[in-house]
Amino acid sequence: NDMTSEQPRADLGLIGGSGFYEFFDQAERVSVTTPFGDPSDDLVIGDVDGRRVAFIARHGQGHRFPPHRVNYRANLWALRSVGVRQVLAPCAVGSLRPELGPGTVVVPDQVVDRTWGRDHTVYDAEGPVVHVGFADPYCPHGREVAIRAARGAGLEVADSGTLVVINGPRFSSKAESAWHQQAGWTVVGMTGMPEASIARELAMCFTTIALVTDHDAGVDGGEAVTHEEVLAVFGRNVDKLKAVLRSALAALPESEPDDTAGCSCRRALDGITLPFA
Ligand code: ADE
Repeated sequence: NDMTSEQPRADLGLIGGSGFYEFFDQAERVSVTTPFGDPSDDLVIGDVDGRRVAFIARHGQGHRFPPHRVNYRANLWALRSVGVRQVLAPCAVGSLRPELGPGTVVVPDQVVDRTWGRDHTVYDAEGPVVHVGFADPYCPHGREVAIRAARGAGLEVADSGTLVVINGPRFSSKAESAWHQQAGWTVVGMTGMPEASIARELAMCFTTIALVTDHDAGVDGGEAVTHEEVLAVFGRNVDKLKAVLRSALAALPESEPDDTAGCSCRRALDGITLPFA
């Protein structure tokens, strides 16, 4: 219909902090409603180095929503509804490995979901029963592009690893952290899930780019992590992270909506049609 055709669209999506608004030369704010309620904020849709990008501030204006209150379903649905099929999702994480220090970028290839009480699926009503595959939670294409971009920006990069997502908003106890380390996991965060699995449920390519802000409790003899430390380290590295995202966005493959060259993310829903224009 007319309204749909006039709405700005984008095929690339970025979920990040409010510092990313300045990415755009010219951008439009677009208010989107979803079957799951309101996203964290309006989408901002515009051009980044010649690519159409839709941005959403994960935690909303003024960082209003803590990780367990983010409406992940609405955020992903909103991006998908304006055409987004590839998403880059930066986040802050604690390191579970002594050798991965603050400022390191980790591009995980696996995830462990220890969140609870979050609305974690878009297939929650009567309707098709959908069990998407999640053996490889992240897009191999997106990961490759992110790794190259982070190396190109001169950052320390771990090109694989397992992200364990805790519910928060508190940090881990030393015993929990020791358990996560002994399990062999690499980094710990609070926002990675169910963001990644909902993206898969919507057949979107999804790549997490995790910036290490601290050693988690007890790692490397470290003391308890504080929110101040996380914010300070994130602030010191945010310009580099933005450079990484900018070049990664520019390098993501241009492709047809259901193009599957090199990844199966966008085939996750074979046979199921989502109500999008
Ligand atoms: N985000 C940044 N640092 C973290 C940590 N140590 N644990 C959980 N989430 C984090």
